[in-house]
Amino acid sequence: MLTFILCTCQLLSWMSTHVELSNGIKMPVLGLGTWLSKPEEVEDAVRNAIDVGYRLIDTAACYGNEAEIGKVLKEYFEEGKLKREDIFITTKLWCTHLHPNEIEAELRESLKKLQLDYVDLYLVHMPTAFSSDMSAQDHSVKVEDTWKGVEEAYKKGLARSIGVSNFSADQIHRIQKIASVPIHNNQVELHLYFPQFELQEVCNQYKISLTAYAPLGSPGRVNFNLVNWEKSPNPLENDVVLKLAQKYHKTPAQILLRHLIQRKIAVIPKSVNASRIKENFEVFDFSLTVEEINELNSVPRGKRLFKQEFLIGHPEDPMKDER
Ligand SMILES: NC(=O)c1ccc[n+]([C@@H]2O[C@H](COP(=O)([O-])OP(=O)(O)OC[C@H]3O[C@@H](n4cnc5c(N)ncnc54)[C@H](OP(=O)(O)O)[C@@H]3O)[C@@H](O)[C@H]2O)c1
Ligand SMILES: *[C@@H]1O[C@H](CO)[C@@H](O)[C@H](O)[C@H]1NC(C)=O
Ligand SMILES: *[C@@H]1O[C@H](CO)[C@@H](O)[C@H](O)[C@H]1NC(C)=O
Repeated sequence: MLTFILCTCQLLSWMSTHVELSNGIKMPVLGLGTWLSKPEEVEDAVRNAIDVGYRLIDTAACYGNEAEIGKVLKEYFEEGKLKREDIFITTKLWCTHLHPNEIEAELRESLKKLQLDYVDLYLVHMPTAFSSDMSAQDHSVKVEDTWKGVEEAYKKGLARSIGVSNFSADQIHRIQKIASVPIHNNQVELHLYFPQFELQEVCNQYKISLTAYAPLGSPGRVNFNLVNWEKSPNPLENDVVLKLAQKYHKTPAQILLRHLIQRKIAVIPKSVNASRIKENFEVFDFSLTVEEINELNSVPRGKRLFKQEFLIGHPEDPMKDER
C-alpha cells in the first residue's frame, strides 16, 4: 500500500507541468524562449512549439518580435486551435521606460503588438534605468519607483502576474518591503554552471517562482556581437550530463532541462529549429533520481555568462557586489 502511494506521488510529480504563482495563477514550467529569434524565424518557431504542446512563450519588448508572435497567436485563436486562457504569454518592460508614469503605455504598446488584452506575466527586464536611446544611464529611478508603476498595470488587469528579471537578492528584499502586490516571478541566468542556489533560497522565502534563462548555457549568445563573450565550458558537453543522457536515452539538452524542472525552476529554452523545439519539450516522460539531482547540483560552478558591463557605475547595478 505504502509503495503504491509513493509510486503515485512520484508519478504525479513526474507529470507536473506547471508551477503555481503566489497569486494562484498556474504557469507552465516549460516555455519557448525567443531572444535572438529573428522576426522571420519566430513565427514558425511559435507554430511548431504550440503544435507540440508548449503553452508558454517568453518574449520582450526589446526582442523586436512581439508583433510576429501576436500574428501567430491571432491565427491560432481564430482557427480555434487554441484558446486565450490556454496559453501563457510573458513579456518584459525595457530599461528605457522604468519611470512609473511610462509603464502602462509601454505595456499597452506590447499588448497592441501581441494583439492581446492582457499578458500572463509582465517582467521588469532590468533594474537599471537608461535614457530613451540607451546612450546614458538614468540614475533618477529606483527599483521601488518602477515597481509602483508595474503594480498599477497589474491592478488594471493588463497583466495577470508581475515580476522582475536580472534583479539582485537585495533589490528583491527592497521591493518586497514596499510592495502592495508582491513579486510573482524572477527570471535570471540559471544553468548547470550557474545554479543560483542562494537566490533560489531568497525567492522561496517570498514564494517567488524562479525562471531560468539560458537553461542550456546559451550556446547561441555568440551571435549577439554587441558583447565580447568570454569562452566558457558548454553544459551540453558536461560528463555527468552525457552519462545521464546515455542512461535515459535522452539528449544532453533534455537532461539539463529535466534537472532544473525537478529543482522546481521554470525553463525557457530558445530554439528556432523544429526538431530541437520538439526535443526540448520531451522532458515529462522520465525522472532523475535524487542522487542524480545531487550529482548535477555538485558540478563545479562556473562564471556568470551575462555580465552586463554596460551597467557598471549605475546605482541599481544588480551585480555591483560581485564585480
Ligand atoms: N531576461 C533576460 O534578460 C534574458 C536574457 C537572456 C535570455 N532570456 C530568455 O531566455 C531564453 C533562453 O535563453 P538563451 O536563448 O540565451 O539560451 P538557451 O535557451 O540556453 O540556448 C539557446 C541556444 O541553444 C540552441 N539550442 C536550443 N535547443 C537545443 C538543443 N536541444 N540542443 C542543442 N542546442 C540547442 C539554440 O539554437 P537553435 O535556435 O538554432 O536551435 C540557441 O542557440 C531566451 O530566448 C529569452 O527568451 C532572457
Ligand atoms: C539580463 O541581462 C542580459 C545580459 O545583459 C540581457 O541580455 C537581458 O536583456 C537582461 N535581461 C534581464 C531580464 O535582465
Ligand atoms: C536542427 O537540430 C538538429 C537536431 O539537434 C540538428 O541536427 C540540425 O543540424 C539543426 N539544424 C540547423 C539548421 O541548425
